[in-house]
Amino acid sequence: MITVRDLHKEYLVSEKGKGLGGTLKSLFRNEKKIIGAVNGLDFHVNKGEIVGFIGPNGSGKSTTIKMMTGILTPTSGEVLIDGRNIARYRKETVRKIGVVFGQRTQLNWDLRLEETFELLRRIYQIEKKDYLDILEVMDSILGIGELLDKPVRQMSLGQRVKGDLTAAMLHSPKVLFLDEPTIGLDAGSKYALRKFIKEINTIRGTTVILTTHDLGDIQELCERLIIINNGVMMDDGNLSEIVERIAPYRTLTVEYYDSIVPTHPKAEILSAADNVVRYKFMKRELTAARLISDLSSLHPIRDVGIEEAGIDDIIRIAYAKTVQS
Ligand SMILES: Nc1ncnc2c1ncn2[C@@H]1O[C@H](COP(=O)(O)OP(=O)(O)OP(=O)(O)O)[C@@H](O)[C@H]1O
Ligand SMILES: [Mg+2]
Repeated sequence: MITVRDLHKEYLVSEKGKGLGGTLKSLFRNEKKIIGAVNGLDFHVNKGEIVGFIGPNGSGKSTTIKMMTGILTPTSGEVLIDGRNIARYRKETVRKIGVVFGQRTQLNWDLRLEETFELLRRIYQIEKKDYLDILEVMDSILGIGELLDKPVRQMSLGQRVKGDLTAAMLHSPKVLFLDEPTIGLDAGSKYALRKFIKEINTIRGTTVILTTHDLGDIQELCERLIIINNGVMMDDGNLSEIVERIAPYRTLTVEYYDSIVPTHPKAEILSAADNVVRYKFMKRELTAARLISDLSSLHPIRDVGIEEAGIDDIIRIAYAKTVQS
């Protein structure tokens, strides 16, 4: 469906010296330097996948999304949509994709929402029936119907994002690119948006590439994660595989009847206070049942709790790893 091959993007930026002196100097001397935002990305996305495309700020996600959607031309390398190079066959491939940037609207501020949709319908030459069908779907998932008469400039952020999503879906794209779609949305709007992503993926088989800094989005939506940093690939795989690789441990919290701290040769003590001891152990070496039984044979146990590494731990560790390398 989508193939990215040895993709690079360099930006030419003005270089300014440090401080006010530097700023003043750069007014007279125009020194430029090249920065590599995307430095050789390779991956393939199959039809029907929901892929979380994640990485720290400035890691090159938006730049990559822009190249995948034909908004930016790569410095080198290529993006194929259904086997066709998007930069070369822009007109025909662009019909297969939809894109939404959470930070920026593609709707016309001066028009009512429905007028923008009508305009898009003509641009993409969408049959009236298909157009009404998709509006109905979008109404049932996102309640777009009640927003149709509203001028775009009067819309709240959440309403505007719903409008943008509908605009991106009108021509029934096979792939939907979403760059931070949930940014700034309240819990209810986030819920609606995630529901929308799941439903178009299941009902219409739409492939979704999603960038987000929201751990809830990742956990609820993305089976596969592509993690990048400094414009290069750091990890690519199933969320559960990545969790297994990055955090192959669990934490066991044990409450004893008094302030004793029993040790175990295969478990590390993370903390001990108020009769409660937290143990960290490798899943491969030890089962929780074994650890509990070993500890309880040393000292009577009042209560236990087991925790897997959370998605926030995983992301923190993955990003820290990428910064070092
Ligand atoms: N138009 C531009 N001109 C020059 N440099 C740019 C431009 N757009 C992005 N960059 C630089 O390219 C790098 C990657 O930026 P990009 O916007 O792709 O990151 P990102 O992963 O989307 O970050 P964020 O999570 O903050 O959205 C950054 O160093 C950024 O400063
Ligand atoms: Mg970005």
